[in-house]
Amino acid sequence: MDSTNQLLKPLTTKRNENGNLEIGGCDLVNLAEQYGTPLYVLDEETVKAICRDYKNAFKGYPKVNMMFASKALCTMATSRLLFDEGFGFDVVSSGEIYTVYKAGVDMTKVLFNGNNKSFDELTLAIELGVGRISVDNFFELSLLNEIAKSHNKIVDILLRITPGIECHTHEYIQTGHLDSKFGFDLTQTDEAVELILKEYSNLKLHGLHAHIGSQIFETSVYGDEIEIIVKEIARLDEKFGLKLDEINIGGGLGVKYTESDCPPSTYTIAGIITDRLNDCVKKYNINPPSLFIEPGRSVISTAGVTLYTIGSSKQVPKGKKYVAVDGGMADNPRPSMYQAKYSAEIANGKDKPALKTVTIAGRFCESGDILIDGINLAEPEEGDILCVYNTGAYNYSMASNYNRVQKPAMVLVNNSQSDMIVKRETLEDLISHDVIPDRMKK
Ligand code: LLP
Repeated sequence: MDSTNQLLKPLTTKRNENGNLEIGGCDLVNLAEQYGTPLYVLDEETVKAICRDYKNAFKGYPKVNMMFASKALCTMATSRLLFDEGFGFDVVSSGEIYTVYKAGVDMTKVLFNGNNKSFDELTLAIELGVGRISVDNFFELSLLNEIAKSHNKIVDILLRITPGIECHTHEYIQTGHLDSKFGFDLTQTDEAVELILKEYSNLKLHGLHAHIGSQIFETSVYGDEIEIIVKEIARLDEKFGLKLDEINIGGGLGVKYTESDCPPSTYTIAGIITDRLNDCVKKYNINPPSLFIEPGRSVISTAGVTLYTIGSSKQVPKGKKYVAVDGGMADNPRPSMYQAKYSAEIANGKDKPALKTVTIAGRFCESGDILIDGINLAEPEEGDILCVYNTGAYNYSMASNYNRVQKPAMVLVNNSQSDMIVKRETLEDLISHDVIPDRMKK
C-alpha cells in the first residue's frame, strides 16, 4: 500500500481558481503577503496522514512505540501535534528536551540520545523525568550512574550499539557502519553489561538501540538490523541471564525530494520489520520485545514547503540563467551540505508552461549557495513566489543566522486557516545576545 511519505507535495496541494498554489486551503501567495518570505509552511493534514500511516502500518506487532526524531523539526507546536497523534520523542540536547517539556509532552515518552551528552544535559533529563536514556559509550555509563546516584534515582537506559550495517545514503548521514562515532561496538557490549550489572547500580538496562542511517530507500537493511539486535539480546541472555525487553531500531526511512526518488512505503518497511522481528523472536527464542522506532524525516518532511520571493536574475552569456531568491543556505543548508536535490514551482498563477531551465540561487554570500541547480519553471520573474517542496525536515532545525539574516517564520495550515507557530526573527532578536564590554563604551 502507498503511504504519504512517498508524495512529493503535501496532500492538500492544488491550484485554486486564481491559478495560485494552495496548501491546507490557504493560498500561498496570500500567506507570503501576510507573513513575508522566506516562510516555512507546514500542512497539518499531511502530518496527521503520515502519523496515521505509521500507526496502521505497524498494527501487526503488538508493542510498538513511535518516537519522533526531534532533530528533524523541533518546535513547541509541532511537538504538541505529534504527541497528540500518539508519538513519543527522540531528543538529543537540553534544547530539544526543554522544548518538548514546555510543549506539555509526557516525559516518560521521551528518549535521550547522543554521543556526548553533557553533565548538565543528563542532569536535566533526570530532573524532568525523561523515560529512557540511550547510553552511547563507557564514559557516559559512568557519568550517568554518578548523576543518578546523586539524585537517588534508578535511571532506565538502553545501550546504543553499532550494528555494522552499511546503507546506501550520503556518507555524512550513515551511522550504523562499524567505524562510526556512535554507540558500542558489538565486541564491547559484554564489558558494558558487566559494568551495569556489577558496578552501576543506579542504571537499569532495558534493551538495545541502533540507528543505521537516514534517507534510506533500501528495505532489506532493516531486517538485517533486527536480526543483529535480537541475536545480541539472545546472546546477552545466555551469558548474563539478562532479559532485555526493548529494541529500538532508529529511524531513516526516506522521502521523495524529486520525481526520480522512489522511497519505499511505510507499509512495506513496517511489514519487513515486523515479519523479521516475529521470525527472530522464534529463531532466537526470546520473549517478544517492545519495538521502538524513531522516524524523523519521513514523518514531517513532505508536510513542509518553503516560500521565497524571487528577486534578481541574470543570464550568464553562454552560461546559466540564475534566479535569486530571498533565502537559501541559512534556511535550507541541505543542498550545500549534502548536494541534496529539491523540486519547486512558481506559486502565483502563471499562464505559461514550465519550460525555462534556471538555477535557483540563494541570497547568501557564497558561490555554493545554490538551492536548485537546473529546474524547469514557468518564466520566473521578480516578485514571483517560489514554493520549494519537501522542506519540513532538517531545514528549520538546521537553519542558521549566517550573514546575520533573521530566521524565517513558520505557519501551520489546515482547513483554510493559518497559524504562526514560529515567529520571524527581528533585527533586535539578532543583537539580543550581543554584549559590548563596558570598557568599550564611550
Ligand atoms: N534516530 C537516531 C539515533 C538518529 O541519529 C536519527 C537521525 C534519527 C533517529 C532520525 O532519522 P530520520 O528518520 O530523520 O532519517 N541532517 C541530515 C540528517 C541527519 C540524520 C541524523 N540522525 C539531513 O538533512 O539529511
